[in-house]
Amino acid sequence: MDQFKGQPRLPKFAVPKRYDIYIKPDLCLCKFSGSVAIDIDILSDTRFLVLSAADLLVHDASVSFANQKSSKVIQPSSIQACEVSQILVLEFAETLPFGLGTLRMDFEGILNDNMKGFYRSTYEHNGEKKNMAVTQFEPVDARRCFPCWDEPAFKATFKITLDVPSELVALSNMPIVEEKVNGDLKTVSYQESPIMSTYLVAIVVGLFDYVEDHTTDGVKVRVYCQVGKANQGKFALDVAVKTLDLYKEYFAVPYSLPKLDMIAIPDFAAGAMENYGLVTYRETALLYDDQHSAAANKQRVATVVAHELAHQWFGNLVTMEWWTHLWLNEGFATWVSYLATDSLFPEWKVWNQFLEESNHGLTLDALAESHPIEVEINHASEVDEIFDAISYRKGASIIRMLQSYLGPECFQKSLASYIKRHRCSNTKTEDLWAALEEGSGEPVNKLMSSWTKQQGYPVVTVKVKDEKLVFEQSRFLSSGSSGEGQWIVPITLCCGSYDVRKNFLLQTETESVDIKQSLGCSLSKCCGGNDKYCDWIKLNVDQTGFYRVKYDEDLAAKLRNAIEKNHLTTTDRFGILDDAFALSMACQQSVTSLLTLMGAYREELDYTVLSNLISISYKLERIAADAVPELLDNLRQFFTNIFQFAAEKLGWDPKPGESHLDAMLRGEILTALALFGHEQTIQEGNRRCLAFLDDRSTPLLPPDIRKAAYVAVMQTVNASNRSGYESLLRIYRESDLSQEKTRILSSLASCPDPNIILEVLNFLLSSEVRSQDAIFGLGVNWKARETAWTWLKAKWEEISKIFDSGFLIGRFVSATVSPFASYEKAKEVEEFFASRVKPSMARTLKQSIERVHINLRWVQSVQKERDLPNAINELAWRRY
Ligand code: BES
Ligand code: ZN
Repeated sequence: MDQFKGQPRLPKFAVPKRYDIYIKPDLCLCKFSGSVAIDIDILSDTRFLVLSAADLLVHDASVSFANQKSSKVIQPSSIQACEVSQILVLEFAETLPFGLGTLRMDFEGILNDNMKGFYRSTYEHNGEKKNMAVTQFEPVDARRCFPCWDEPAFKATFKITLDVPSELVALSNMPIVEEKVNGDLKTVSYQESPIMSTYLVAIVVGLFDYVEDHTTDGVKVRVYCQVGKANQGKFALDVAVKTLDLYKEYFAVPYSLPKLDMIAIPDFAAGAMENYGLVTYRETALLYDDQHSAAANKQRVATVVAHELAHQWFGNLVTMEWWTHLWLNEGFATWVSYLATDSLFPEWKVWNQFLEESNHGLTLDALAESHPIEVEINHASEVDEIFDAISYRKGASIIRMLQSYLGPECFQKSLASYIKRHRCSNTKTEDLWAALEEGSGEPVNKLMSSWTKQQGYPVVTVKVKDEKLVFEQSRFLSSGSSGEGQWIVPITLCCGSYDVRKNFLLQTETESVDIKQSLGCSLSKCCGGNDKYCDWIKLNVDQTGFYRVKYDEDLAAKLRNAIEKNHLTTTDRFGILDDAFALSMACQQSVTSLLTLMGAYREELDYTVLSNLISISYKLERIAADAVPELLDNLRQFFTNIFQFAAEKLGWDPKPGESHLDAMLRGEILTALALFGHEQTIQEGNRRCLAFLDDRSTPLLPPDIRKAAYVAVMQTVNASNRSGYESLLRIYRESDLSQEKTRILSSLASCPDPNIILEVLNFLLSSEVRSQDAIFGLGVNWKARETAWTWLKAKWEEISKIFDSGFLIGRFVSATVSPFASYEKAKEVEEFFASRVKPSMARTLKQSIERVHINLRWVQSVQKERDLPNAINELAWRRY
């Protein structure tokens, strides 16, 4: 068996064609037993069958072969499981015959508490705590439920039968064909599925209510939730029905199963999972409560539903061949979810908000410890970590870049033919490029390989030289180092107006464009003649490209001016600010000039732009605290000034008929003001929170401003004034809405008092917080970063046990380590983890340590900015 250990992929001695699975979960004892009959095709001379299994006890295996004349059953001479390689090796005394056979096995396992494989989730019903059984197989945990060929390319059909307590709801991918009640138990059998990958198989057993609707072509859609909460499923149901219809049009292929169930699971590691025909969700990502959910919660539900339903085509019908191509699934679903949400809710302007996705991708990919979109996978445990901003956000962003280069019609047609051509099979990245290349006649493969096969992305520097624009590309790194790499960059630019445009591909390191000749406008005032004078030049128009732009000083000043005069679109205002911030972090631009630019946004009212301005302010505050603590008060004053304009327009109370975006903005602005110590905001937040404590239906605290009020309360809490903290804990304990609970957890973490933070952190690991939710309390106030790190070290054993090998553990590391800015701390972190690192967090750890070095370098550079004190002083006290 040794020859099979430690291999990234299973050998192809045999491939599965059909699984007939029987499972009987025991919800009281938290275990299960079952049997499986797998129709296999033996493809080579072998005495071994090697398949995946983990934490299963497998027994009574046999392979049977039958033809018209005879039948034969062979028992293995040994069954060995290797827990490290997660494989099961059946060894036979004789070589197995070629062709079709059936492999039968019995097995037993436990319903674990790790939110993966076949696991237990808990809920309350009539005051009684109950267990439900749930599966989460992606990426590599179907093997914890039944022995199987657990790789996406081994597609087969699945026929599932369950034995469950007769009063419970039992769901799987397909509709029920038969239900036989036998006393306390019932046997439920489901229709055989179409061919699909193991990671998409699903089972849920528990007590649920549901709401139901149909698509225009009769697909039955249901949303299942806790008993008594069916109303909260209506919004998601409506989105799902409309989205299925929309995707049918867009992909030009109908949804391929007879039903779609979506279900809220109280304990869930990810946000949602696209199991074929049975999509599972965290409660926060599926349920919408009219009374207590915020606009942001509503948008989250819509985008998550749209994302998971996109996978029913992109992922489930056409599946990546191996995890290296995970981004095909995730990048694509992320991009398409915006398309669907935009079509359903145009007033949400989600394509503007998409820039936040790109921004996360750009930020992660600016690290030397990033990885290419197409990443090599050598062990199952490495897969967890690539569900990251590179696969999702960079993936989605380069798709957007390509779509905008090829044009939406051509893009859609080519996609539809890709889906048709590869339905029910597996693909690699090249297959998508081939379809798009055929559809467009453009060299898509060559263009896109530069983005998917090498990590990082370029910063395009643009300078004016003799009426020419000179472009230069080089890899952008937040560390300021120069990296390797060259990309084919679709450059777009506008000159003085959105009607004067130029597009070209920057294929070499540098190129220059004669702007006068190609656009008919002039760059310098003194050129005379009848030329149109161009006041500004903006590259990466609408921010559809995945790159940064660095303008020379003169061009940057003109853009600042254009922002002040409100000549630029939302997306361009966002982009200019975002690039300036990134360049500043990389010490390629001073913080002084960044702050001056931020001053140009003082009348900004757009949600996406302001929301980015806010998050930039938080980061600058942290760097300033290390670099120039004596300037912090003035800096906060400046930030408060910028946000005041929008805050005064929005007020605390919702305006009748106001937009979704204003509702979201109000919460973010007030939260920021509270965090920057704005006295009035803190007082008002406390006042409203008190009113809410007295009366939970007070109009003074609608959901959109609750977080701001909670944060305001936590700013006043310290060891000798704990009442606000206790009050928030009371709301936490009384609420049975998951969105309310996470709102509170993230507010608790904002307390500036390290002693309280220590209590909050311990609370996160208590039985009162589901382990899925602990991550929400980790973004602690930077003043308590030392406390958080000491706590992490002390609790590491416990944390790594609870979060085991999943992807949540990486969040503990990045949240606690990344806020530091010293060489000593980076070293201390390295030493601490030297013996504790796990494959599921190895890359995240390296990235977090790299961030510490980047922060340090930035701090040192800020300390050298001589004109910073004056600039901040001037900005803080300027009268607007
Ligand atoms: N396929 C993923 C679920 C998943 C994530 C499985 C990580 C295993 C590991 C699902 O489609 C997904 O992407 N969910 C997102 C939500 C989405 C709206 C970005 C999630 O869980 O955050
Ligand atoms: Zn996804």
